[in-house]
Amino acid sequence: MTSDGCAANLSPLGVGIGWRPEIDLTVERLPGVDFVEVIAENIDPRRLPDSLKALRDRGVPVIPHGVSLSLGSTRPPDGRRLEHLAACADALQSPLVSEHIAYTRAGKFDAGHLVPLPRTTAALDALGENVRSVQAALPVPLALENVAPLFRWPHEEMTEGAFLRALVEQTNAHLLLDLANLHTAHANLGISPTEVLDTLPLERVAYVHVAGGTLRDGLWRDTHAHPVPDSVLDLLAELAARITVPGVLLEHDRNYPQDSQLAAELAALRHTAFRTGRPSRQPLTPRPKPLRPVGAAGQQDLQREQEDLLRCLTAGGPAPAGFDAERLAVQAQTLASRKARHSACRHAPRPQERNARRLLPRLLGNHSPSSGPSSILRQIVILVGDSISRLLPRRGRPSRFPRSGAIGLPGCGMRGCKKFGVSDSWKMRL
Ligand SMILES: [Fe+2]
Repeated sequence: MTSDGCAANLSPLGVGIGWRPEIDLTVERLPGVDFVEVIAENIDPRRLPDSLKALRDRGVPVIPHGVSLSLGSTRPPDGRRLEHLAACADALQSPLVSEHIAYTRAGKFDAGHLVPLPRTTAALDALGENVRSVQAALPVPLALENVAPLFRWPHEEMTEGAFLRALVEQTNAHLLLDLANLHTAHANLGISPTEVLDTLPLERVAYVHVAGGTLRDGLWRDTHAHPVPDSVLDLLAELAARITVPGVLLEHDRNYPQDSQLAAELAALRHTAFRTGRPSRQPLTPRPKPLRPVGAAGQQDLQREQEDLLRCLTAGGPAPAGFDAERLAVQAQTLASRKARHSACRHAPRPQERNARRLLPRLLGNHSPSSGPSSILRQIVILVGDSISRLLPRRGRPSRFPRSGAIGLPGCGMRGCKKFGVSDSWKMRL
């Protein structure tokens, strides 16, 4: 650990919030935002949203947060996704990037979201290899995030803490420690968060996530749509007693509260994470037993197990042996509802189209696109409207942009959805 208690080679980050298109102006202007994180799949590095550029140019660190590399797959990460993540880091001049300890694809199946890995040597081997290849392709350090589990894999070989520790030691990656996900693992699987903190190499923590969730049908759902619960703040205080917290970031994906409430949540995080000054306890760092690689046969078994699980979660296949079928049904339902929300969002008119419909009467009198103009005319109107919006000055915008629902469509909240990320210039000016 460095003298300031932060992860080696990384600067302290402070308090941050997840940048989302729906709250871009809020984030840009909210007091107490020291850094932000953006879902990498939501942006085009060649055409960054204005508010992200403004933050970057002000010197606010912007961290691209990947959600689709599927680092836990037995196959190498997709080259184009990796190039995109690297390009985001370059365009945003980021100090680091982050991704998840999870998989999203196996064989022909794509969950569209993060599925937990088994804590086994085979999974560690696959993950370690992919992480090393990603690190080699990135221009900045990589931090890896623990995910929120609803179910447990059978025949696991390690505790959560031992798995994460072994991963960090194999790859020299940093950790993005999601305390809300630790709380989820505790509530749903009985995993002790303090035991995890006792085992983790806390000196490798680059920053921390917190988020809200809710208890439904006896399971904790990490919704990112509720206030941060006391249990997660308690974990933040527990961490602050062990190390100087390098950074803490609030994740909020839907049901955005008023700006004043967001500001109050950030202030509470700052108070909890940094009130104690120097940590009072030394982190425990017991060394794990060395692990032996499982070889090609182990990787094939893992591939089959991952595929069987995704077949169950996404295609109505049977629950694989040893899993809790009820928990998998809940997970499958969660994935399906996310996809349905995202699909509705994808098939709705683009923001440019919605605004073109509003601008059309001003531009072309009575020829409204909703009354059936040709598609060529509609495209012309969209292009004209887009050009006009880009020429309008940024001055005079409302201090808090009315949520996207105010212009007719709520964001689907799905990570990786570009629906609103490409249209930043529109909504800033309407
Ligand atoms: Fe997170």
